[in-house]
Amino acid sequence: MDIKTGSTAKLEIDGKVHELAVIEGTEHERAIDIASLRSSTGCITLDDGYGNTGSCQSAITFIDGEKGILRYRGIPVAEMAEKSSYVETAYLLIYGHLPRKSELQRFSKMLTQNENLHEDMKYHFEGFPSQAHPMAILSAMINASSCFYPGQMQRPTRDVFDEQAARLISQVRTIAAFSYRKSRGLPIIYPKPSYKYTENLLHMLFSDVYEDYELRPEVVRALDTIFILHADHEQNCSTSTVRMVASAQANLFASAAAGVCALWGPLHGGANQWVIEMLSDIHSSGDDGSRFIKAAKDKNSGKRLMGFGHRVYRNYDPRARIIKETCDTLLKTLNISDPLLDIAHRMEEAALSDPYFIERKLYPNVDFYSGIILRALRIPTEMFTVIFAIGRMAGWIANFKEILDDPKGRIYRPRQVYTGATLTSYVPMGARGE
Ligand code: SDX
Repeated sequence: MDIKTGSTAKLEIDGKVHELAVIEGTEHERAIDIASLRSSTGCITLDDGYGNTGSCQSAITFIDGEKGILRYRGIPVAEMAEKSSYVETAYLLIYGHLPRKSELQRFSKMLTQNENLHEDMKYHFEGFPSQAHPMAILSAMINASSCFYPGQMQRPTRDVFDEQAARLISQVRTIAAFSYRKSRGLPIIYPKPSYKYTENLLHMLFSDVYEDYELRPEVVRALDTIFILHADHEQNCSTSTVRMVASAQANLFASAAAGVCALWGPLHGGANQWVIEMLSDIHSSGDDGSRFIKAAKDKNSGKRLMGFGHRVYRNYDPRARIIKETCDTLLKTLNISDPLLDIAHRMEEAALSDPYFIERKLYPNVDFYSGIILRALRIPTEMFTVIFAIGRMAGWIANFKEILDDPKGRIYRPRQVYTGATLTSYVPMGARGE
């Protein structure tokens, strides 16, 4: 879809007025196009954390942070969570339309054909200590896996992209499950071609050699919903990282491995693990949450209410609302009562009526309740961000493809304002003092 241009912004520097084009997206977001700023004014912009800076034009996901809107290719995320599957959502994000039956069948078949790792990958798993963090393993093994497909080491051409994308979406699940089994000293459980995407992950995680894991529909649906809700989120930290690496014409697996590293950060995808650790500490200390909330408001405490706040949402994260409902339903169905859920409910209620959080428009985000669902599914805390990465893989690949399909294809190379030493000379060792 085309963007609109027309109006301009006037910038006066040193008495000279510069006109800059204003462009408008399909949802009427407006941006000042500063592509000619440095050449015409000698100035660059500076924007700590890129809070006001658009790095690209993208047609994949739309967020309105003020209204709490999130849409995948125009479809509200709540509709996708209710009516779609993760595999269909991945297809929509990557290829830009809901798949026809034949397209979905072909895509699903490619996922099945690519679900196994090269057998020699098991030697790489042997090399990790049992307590290695699964996000470190995931990033390393995504790159390691690509080494077994020589054609995969360079940027994909259009005709091989589909297979590489399917291989990455499928194998990220297998790598995750194998790393879990290895960390527990359990025998590897291979994927079953007869199982659908999310069923196969649960099978590889929790089946025994002598007995398959019981795939309860409610459990499969809850995990598939988690994947749908995590599938993409416009230019978040990890997706921007994938685009940065892809812009250098690195291959798909290298770009995704970089995204895994960015997602691992506690301020980003790592938050779902930190939320559970926060709730567990609150529970074990006998705090009802109020002491922790008090600390989270105190800048000197070094504590934050994990799972709260968002750079874009100044309203309730629409995903958090769906995850909270899914969480309540699942725990009732499984007849689980988790004290951490009670604490989370109490803390949400307290924070949403506390001026500190209200003034800063801090609401629960996607990570606040997701960990409680994953605990109910018996997924260990250290695997939570891996689950996030499996869901987000679709969005990373969709953004990689936008870069791949961009005829301009410029490398991302931001500028800086230099604040270091001005011109000086080399000082020989003898003249440097003791
Ligand atoms: C994800 O970008 C995405 O889309 C990410 C994501 C995705 O799908 O990809 O949505 C996934 O990463 C969700 C966010 C998960 N992270 C957390 O839950 C960690 C806790 N939240 C934060 O640390 C924080 O809210 C961020 C990192 C999410 C956003 O940080 P910003 O936009 O840089 O906000 P900020 O740090 O400038 O905070 C603004 C104010 C500050 O207070 P003042 O200096 O104005 O007095 O709000 C305060 C902050 O101290 N604040 C919090 C807080 N979050 C912000 N205070 C206590 N607890 C918090 N959680």
